[in-house]
Amino acid sequence: LRLAVLASGRGSNLQAILDAVACGRLDARIAGVFSDRRSSQALERAREAGVPATAVSPKGFASRALFDEHLFSLVDAVHPDLIVCAGYMRLISDAIVATRTGRMINIHPSLLPAFKGLHTHEQALQAGSTEHGASVHYVTPELDGGPVIAQARVPVQADDDAARLGTRVLDREHPLLVATLQLFASGRASLIDNRVYLDGQPL
Ligand code: GRF
Repeated sequence: LRLAVLASGRGSNLQAILDAVACGRLDARIAGVFSDRRSSQALERAREAGVPATAVSPKGFASRALFDEHLFSLVDAVHPDLIVCAGYMRLISDAIVATRTGRMINIHPSLLPAFKGLHTHEQALQAGSTEHGASVHYVTPELDGGPVIAQARVPVQADDDAARLGTRVLDREHPLLVATLQLFASGRASLIDNRVYLDGQPL
C-alpha cells in the first residue's frame, strides 16, 4: 500500500506510521509527506526516516482552490493508493475531495459524529461526556462528516482537563491509525455508495 501523508504540526501520528512500517507491523510504504507549514515537525520526522517531505505554504496562492490544486498535483505525483490526513489542519476544497472519494482518510480526535471541528477535548469536557476518543473516517466534502471506519474509546475522568484528556486520546490515536491502515493494506476496507465495507460486509 502506497501512502501519502498530510500533516501540519507535531506529526506524532506520522511517527506512529513510520515506526509501524519500519518494524513490519504495517505492510505499507510512505511515498511522500506533505505539509502546509514549513515548521511542521512532521517534515523532520519524514526526512529522518528517509521519506521525501514537501512543504507548500498557502501564502502566495490567490485561493484555497489554487493552493489545493498545486499541493495535490504534488501528492498525485507520488501515486498514492491512499491519502492519509494525520493532523492536517486545513480545509480541503470540495473539487479535490470529490475526485478522491474512498482514497482519502482522516484521523479526528473525537467519537464522531460527536464534536466535529476544533477543540474537541474542550467540547467533550463541556458536554459532560463520560467517554471520548478518536475516529478514522473517509474524507468527504462535509468537514469531519465522512463515513467512520474505526474508533478508539477512552474514559473521561472526573479531574480531567483538556490536556490530560487529549494525551489519553492521542495515545490511542497512534495504534488506531496503524490498525486502520493495515485494514487497507490487507484489502479489507472499502467504500461503496458512501458506506464502509469491512471484509465485504457493510459496517
Ligand atoms: C491529532 O489529535 C489528530 O487527531 C488531530 O490533530 C492531532 C495531530 O497530532 N487531527 P500529530 O500532529 O499527529 O501529533
